Amino acid sequence: MKHHRIHNFNAGPAALPAEVLEDVQQELIDFQGSGMSILEVSHRSRWFEDVLDDAIVRIKRLLQLGDRYEVLFLQGGASMQFCFVPMNLALEGKPVAYINTGTWSTKAIKEAEILGKDVRVIASSQDLEFTYIPQDFQVPTDSSYLHITSNNTIRGTQWRNFPQGVKAPLVSDMSSDIFSRMFDPTPFGLIYAGAQKNAGPAGVTLVILRKDMLDRTPANLPTMFKYSTYAEKKSMFNTPPCFAIYVVWKVVRWIEEKIGGMEKMQALNEKKAQLIYDYLDSQDFYRGTASPESRSKMNVTFRLHKQDLESLFISEALAHDLGGLKGHRSVGGCRASIYNAVSVESVETLIQFMKEFARRNA
Ligand SMILES: Cc1ncc(COP(=O)(O)O)c(C=O)c1O
Repeated sequence: MKHHRIHNFNAGPAALPAEVLEDVQQELIDFQGSGMSILEVSHRSRWFEDVLDDAIVRIKRLLQLGDRYEVLFLQGGASMQFCFVPMNLALEGKPVAYINTGTWSTKAIKEAEILGKDVRVIASSQDLEFTYIPQDFQVPTDSSYLHITSNNTIRGTQWRNFPQGVKAPLVSDMSSDIFSRMFDPTPFGLIYAGAQKNAGPAGVTLVILRKDMLDRTPANLPTMFKYSTYAEKKSMFNTPPCFAIYVVWKVVRWIEEKIGGMEKMQALNEKKAQLIYDYLDSQDFYRGTASPESRSKMNVTFRLHKQDLESLFISEALAHDLGGLKGHRSVGGCRASIYNAVSVESVETLIQFMKEFARRNA
């Protein structure tokens, strides 16, 4: 049966590949001959353990993590990591460094402050409403870590190149750009990402941890707050979010087997971003809000030059099967999230609609 599917530009939860959804649907009644769905099997069964093991292997391969890193599956969203990181990685008597590039960084900073850490916000783009990524900063040499938000979902900015030559391990919130591009993991002590944008459904958070970071876990943390618990028990100290992990497994398989790996995934993402930014730069009916050198390839934020037309734009777009184009409630305007599962064709359809809307409302 052919289903009605829209061009989905939601910021998260967001589009999933149709092939993944079809696969999940097909397997739901009888997972690989088990006579049960994956929702109904024990997390200690070989059915689920095989899924978990293969998901870890594929994530390590996609991100070229090698054996130096642990891939963990946690709950509580990326927001839970805002406190987990300082609790687990702050070294006694040493500062924790943060760069503030928007709402999510601000929230991460707040949690480190609540915990009474020596927080140093070494750069911020708040002066220009978080429309750019700061380039000039000094990281205190004794920092426990430097925390950044690699992609700022709300403002549509993204670190193009990660900070270089920093002695402290980098920690990054990659919720909205993990698996979107290749990067060298070596400087990162920890990467975390809520799955619900580029990696799967809500309910699971990926944590990629360099093994030496485990030496930092303080003994006096409750068991469920220690990264070491998840590492020692392969994310199964307690019942993990099985279904969400299963869908993440399907998504990483899709990147490897349908797309053909990270290089191809990145090329597709670059193509989509280029199409839409080229269009934004070619006219003045719409205006991109992020500073060009800091533009995100995942979340394209823009305004209409007549701002009172924005709600009409969003509702007419939806009538044309183009959904999720409303900007974050804290900033208004429009936003097209063009994550991995959003096709080039969807982006072309959006641009076609934008052109036509501009012509009709000039
Ligand atoms: C960059 C970033 N960090 C953190 C979050 C919060 O994630 P969660 O809802 O999983 O806690 C979001 C959610 O939109 C995000 O975009």
